[in-house]
Amino acid sequence: MLNFIITETYKEMSGLAAERIALALKKKSDLVMALPTGGTPVGLLEEMSRMAKSGEANFAKAKSFNIDEYIPLKKDDPQSYYWFLNHYFYQHANISVENTFVPDILADDLTAECARYEQTIQAHGDFDITILGIGHDGHIGFNEPHATHSPVCHIINLNEETIEANARFFSHKEDVPQQAITLGMGTILRSKEIVLIANGKSKAAVMKQLHNCAHIDPLFPASFLLLHPNVTVICDREAASLLNI
Ligand code: F6R
Repeated sequence: MLNFIITETYKEMSGLAAERIALALKKKSDLVMALPTGGTPVGLLEEMSRMAKSGEANFAKAKSFNIDEYIPLKKDDPQSYYWFLNHYFYQHANISVENTFVPDILADDLTAECARYEQTIQAHGDFDITILGIGHDGHIGFNEPHATHSPVCHIINLNEETIEANARFFSHKEDVPQQAITLGMGTILRSKEIVLIANGKSKAAVMKQLHNCAHIDPLFPASFLLLHPNVTVICDREAASLLNI
């Protein structure tokens, strides 16, 4: 069973996850991080930015990789996931632009670009810490429920449920990209430490499923986390409301 920590508030959930990053950074100043986007990590990224500004965390040598990126959004598109991390974190912290990585969506051959991104991650010795959100369908990164999963970085077609969930960030649902590049299950599982964060009532059902899951089920992608020895799930009271603990 995965290790769950339940916090009273979203702020507390974000703070605890930020502490994990700060602690890892103290042990290894050139920390290699994989960071998610979406609604869940906003508080975490704001807290990391605060820590950077106050000097509690020094990101000068840290490296940061986007967990996923929409096709075909360019880095400077306000809907792109690179833009998101820059907006909430990079521009507020002393992290060098050359230490921030994202798949190049403008590459002619996106399959080759996935292989290049995977190689870049491996060349950095893989992730020291990966922060994950979770989709209502149990996706981690954008590894959607599917009979098979790619172990490495790859192109994925987004599920209708995910497109609908992400439509809240766009003016029209039709504007939500249908494809993305995501880290593979293997890329995520090679991370030395994984912290999954979840908040709010809408995540209660998926938290219950994750808490109860005892087998690897490719149709519930987060179940692959059972294979990893160092996963912490941090969720707020609302997301934990259906757990029997
Ligand atoms: C985004 C990502 C996704 C999200 C998930 C939850 O970079 O990797 O797995 O973490 O879709 O999104 P929110 O936080 O918006 O509920």
